Amino acid sequence: MVYGIGTDICDIRRISATLGRRGDRFAERVLGPRELEVFRYRRGKLEDRGVRFLATRFSAKEAFSKAIGLGLRMPMTWRGCEILNLPSGKPEIHLNGVLAEWFAARGLSAHVTVTDEADYAASFVVVETRSEK
Ligand SMILES: CC(C)(COP(=O)(O)OP(=O)(O)OC[C@H]1O[C@@H](n2cnc3c(N)ncnc32)[C@H](O)[C@@H]1OP(=O)(O)O)[C@@H](O)C(=O)NCCC(=O)NCCS
Repeated sequence: MVYGIGTDICDIRRISATLGRRGDRFAERVLGPRELEVFRYRRGKLEDRGVRFLATRFSAKEAFSKAIGLGLRMPMTWRGCEILNLPSGKPEIHLNGVLAEWFAARGLSAHVTVTDEADYAASFVVVETRSEK
């Protein structure tokens, strides 16, 4: 059954401006270790691809935080939730540390979809539970 849904829209220009102002520290605060590798690879190819990756991840993490009903409150953290792509391109949510434990203890699973166009990135997350709680 559905445990929660969450959505978020993010202004890519704001992400770009913050990245310009705060540099890599901003990306390092928002992205988990595996996401950072992808970010650096894509940014190395083209600055805009890096910024778009960061913006879709930013929106997907906020959407996930809403779907689990916590917002960005512990155990939900930016880096605890990574959105990584399968070889097919499909994004998947991978959780780390206490957030992973919190999620598993409730028997939850998550689905995410992301999109971006011109100045905006948007995401939608559905969280399911196996139990009737
Ligand atoms: C959920 C959160 C990540 C969204 O922040 P945002 O990107 O600035 O705002 P958005 O416009 O995307 O989303 C706001 C909507 O999220 C929803 N929302 C807020 N808290 C939520 C929660 N715990 N679970 C699910 N949805 C939530 C509400 O519908 C809210 O709209 P409303 O205020 O009109 O009711 C953010 O509100 C949050 O982390 N809150 C928890 C921490 C907190 O309360 N901080 C404030 C003190 S520093």
